[in-house]
Amino acid sequence: MVTRRAFLAAILGGALAAVATFIGLPRLAGRPSSKGPPVTAGEVRPGGLVYLPLPRLVGEVTLEQALASRRSIREYTGEPLELWELSQVLWAAYGVNEVVHGFKTTPSAGATYPLEVYAVIAPRGVYTGEGYLEPGSYKYDPHSHTLRQVRRGDLTGELYRAALEQDWVRDAPVNLVFSAVYERTTKRYGERGVRYVHMEVGHAGQNVYLQAAALGLATVAIGAFHDDKVREIIGAPPEEHPLYIMPLARPITPYHLDQAKLQAYIQSSRLAHNK
Ligand SMILES: Cc1cc2nc3c(=O)[nH]c(=O)nc-3n(C[C@H](O)[C@H](O)[C@H](O)COP(=O)(O)O)c2cc1C
Repeated sequence: MVTRRAFLAAILGGALAAVATFIGLPRLAGRPSSKGPPVTAGEVRPGGLVYLPLPRLVGEVTLEQALASRRSIREYTGEPLELWELSQVLWAAYGVNEVVHGFKTTPSAGATYPLEVYAVIAPRGVYTGEGYLEPGSYKYDPHSHTLRQVRRGDLTGELYRAALEQDWVRDAPVNLVFSAVYERTTKRYGERGVRYVHMEVGHAGQNVYLQAAALGLATVAIGAFHDDKVREIIGAPPEEHPLYIMPLARPITPYHLDQAKLQAYIQSSRLAHNK
């Protein structure tokens, strides 16, 4: 049933949008038409398209605090992540932070952006507020800030075996996988582009570490795995080369650096240095 209020809102909303279009005003961000995709809140559409909630640009932790608590953490509680947490980490990893050219949070040689980001989601791994994301592998699109399902099913065990049975891969509700299309960078820079791609995945990996630390989450950069198996598990095309797996989870023991302990460490190092 359409209420009088809903009817008026629809009419007025449509009229305002028509006026805005006529005088060349942009549509208000975060207030899409009722038919368009959501922008601020997350939403899961049939067919495995996930509109991620809009990333936050203000957090509760300073950069210094995030740096001080960055650690490779490998023991997890087994609790799910929330969709907004995954959204935030994906944005930090390789999201758009410049809206003229669509440049990203990670620096990129010649802005060639060779990386692709996947999330392998375990059963009951990510809670949306209404239920859990279907398990499988999903590919991140930084420009629309969406995830699109590539493969369905519980892939975490396969990923664990492809990563030489490192327990932290098996235990995480989400594993991010970074892959690279070298050609995007080497066609401009030749062989030197290969090192640029490796530098870039390091930048993206550090973004994940710092955002995870700022949210009280755990991660670890993993380079030891069988490339071909990982490519197959995530459902990536042959031109993509997996470079990093980064589990994302809730830590059993978050890492914390004590200021006094850092001071004592630096002091004793200086004493040893002066001997
Ligand atoms: C290129 C690279 C590859 C790594 N591969 C693995 C890995 O396969 N498995 C793992 O548990 N940790 C891996 N690590 C994490 C390191 O073991 C970790 O960074 C190091 O022990 C220092 O600890 P911290 O990160 O807590 O400072 C890797 C780190 C880097 C930079």
